[in-house]
Amino acid sequence: MRAAFTLAAALALAGSVSTYPTYPGVCTVGTSDVAAVAANGNMGPQANLYYTLETNASTYTPGGQPIGVTIGGLYAGLLLFAAESGGSAVHVGTWGDFDTNSFQTLDHISGCTTFGAGSTLGHKNGQIKTGKYFTWTPPTTNAGSLAFYAIVVSANAKGFQTLSSTISSTVPTAVATGEANIQFTTIAAIPETIRPDKTYHRLQAFHAVGSQIYNCTLNGTTPTWVATGAQAQEFRTTALTSPVAEHFFLPFADAKGGRPSWFSLLDNTFITGIVVATLPVSAAKIPWTRLQLTSTSKAGLFAGVKTVIRVNTEGGVAPAADTCTDVGKVALQPYTADYWYFG
Ligand SMILES: *[C@@H]1O[C@H](CO)[C@@H](O)[C@H](O)[C@H]1NC(C)=O
Ligand SMILES: *[C@@H]1O[C@H](CO)[C@@H](O)[C@H](O)[C@H]1NC(C)=O
Ligand SMILES: *[C@@H]1O[C@H](CO)[C@@H](O)[C@H](O)[C@H]1NC(C)=O
Repeated sequence: MRAAFTLAAALALAGSVSTYPTYPGVCTVGTSDVAAVAANGNMGPQANLYYTLETNASTYTPGGQPIGVTIGGLYAGLLLFAAESGGSAVHVGTWGDFDTNSFQTLDHISGCTTFGAGSTLGHKNGQIKTGKYFTWTPPTTNAGSLAFYAIVVSANAKGFQTLSSTISSTVPTAVATGEANIQFTTIAAIPETIRPDKTYHRLQAFHAVGSQIYNCTLNGTTPTWVATGAQAQEFRTTALTSPVAEHFFLPFADAKGGRPSWFSLLDNTFITGIVVATLPVSAAKIPWTRLQLTSTSKAGLFAGVKTVIRVNTEGGVAPAADTCTDVGKVALQPYTADYWYFG
């Protein structure tokens, strides 16, 4: 518990100081301590923060090739380590190949080289970071069944979320195609129809609330609702405060046929895509889709994004056909969905 208390105190300060606080204990936190920190009300663990921990492999080989770990989302603080799955405080392996402007291994903190230099990673400043990729090199001797653990802090003295992902020999099982909500663990768990390229990483995930737009149009002589676009606000959490992006449609398709677009309210960048795959889920919900970008962004919130998928949809379907009586009438159909951004 001592380690847990120390870590909670460290995290409470983490957002208000420019580098990871030099408290002992952060590098000797075990998996049970992570749970204790999550239960500690200092900042309050926050539900639905949408942070993700994704790995590019589900097994490791002692002395073998590195594993890529992506922490997706927008966050200020991070503590990341690999430890024995289910309780050990021993941090194993070494972190490298990360953005050294924003992160550092915590070797300068007392006790942090107990299990070897480079085995615990933390943030370096309180600035908001976008989805980041880290490389973890396994130990040369077998350390058994491991898990990556992350504590991700949203902002100065705000909520945090704990994440973990095991690295064992179990191949992730694909979820069945269907309308059940899915939460992201690996790309392999996404239904095949809308699954992004398996070499991609999920860089952002936002919850969207808005309208699907339909136009009552004559199809021959039959008035028919035709989907013409969408307008939605996107949020980091289901708390729906401070939107980070707007979803909209270009009035005319771009040169590559793209219309659905996302505008970052944080940095005024935007991306456009075209639907390339559709997965129907229910008569009462718009389908899940995969979009290929026709216009990318080099910088900002959507930097590096190549594919967007729309999942966990609710509502948004066209009004009943017999309500299309006035040609030219527009209907705004409320919907919610999660948009996940990969690159
Ligand atoms: C996972 O990522 C690491 C680091 O980028 C890379 O060295 C390794 O080859 C990747 N493994 C797989 C299975 O793609
Ligand atoms: C709706 O469709 C009609 C043609 O049926 C078109 O003239 C009108 O511009 C469309 N309105 C919108 C908002 O797309
Ligand atoms: C228009 O009518 C044709 C013939 O009934 C049908 O095949 C087509 O799907 C309709 N288009 C739309 C947008 O409903």
